[in-house]
Amino acid sequence: MLWIKALHIIFMVSWFAGLFYLPRLFVNHAMAGTGEAADRLALMEAKLYRFMAPLAVLTLVFGTWLWLGYGISGGWLHAKLALVAVLVAYHLYCGKLVRDFRAGRNRRSHVFYRWFNEMPVLILAAVVILAVVKPF
Ligand code: HEM
Repeated sequence: MLWIKALHIIFMVSWFAGLFYLPRLFVNHAMAGTGEAADRLALMEAKLYRFMAPLAVLTLVFGTWLWLGYGISGGWLHAKLALVAVLVAYHLYCGKLVRDFRAGRNRRSHVFYRWFNEMPVLILAAVVILAVVKPF
């Protein structure tokens, strides 16, 4: 069980590296407008997003393994799963933004992406507290 948990945490941390960095690229991209720098950012975004998908899947697979394979449950886990659903929606929405930027369809300012960037921070804090402290 501890090996599964270690893998769950390793993939989660790696996934979050992307969830933190990709919106930072959006901030720079929104400031860059169009041109060579914007094209380079679009390429970086697409590559990073592609790399993040398997990390997300592996985090969820090992989390589900811990949950169902070892019968770990509780109110904290249900609250955590609700937040994980929001996180997956955030991840998929990032994919839409990557496609929008690549097609030159972004209309939002860098300020929007700065705030957008804070969301995974809040979710990470809440999920780690739920999983470690298990307050209910
Ligand atoms: C399908 C999604 C997920 C499921 C079903 C799941 C389930 C679990 C389970 C059952 C544990 C073991 C808890 C224990 O041993 O007491 C665990 C540990 C943990 N999970 Fe998840 N998890 C999921 C996604 C995530 C995500 C997205 C994060 C981070 C945002 C995360 C962070 C953690 C952490 C930090 C631990 C270690 C807690 C500890 O051992 O004290 N999990 N997870």
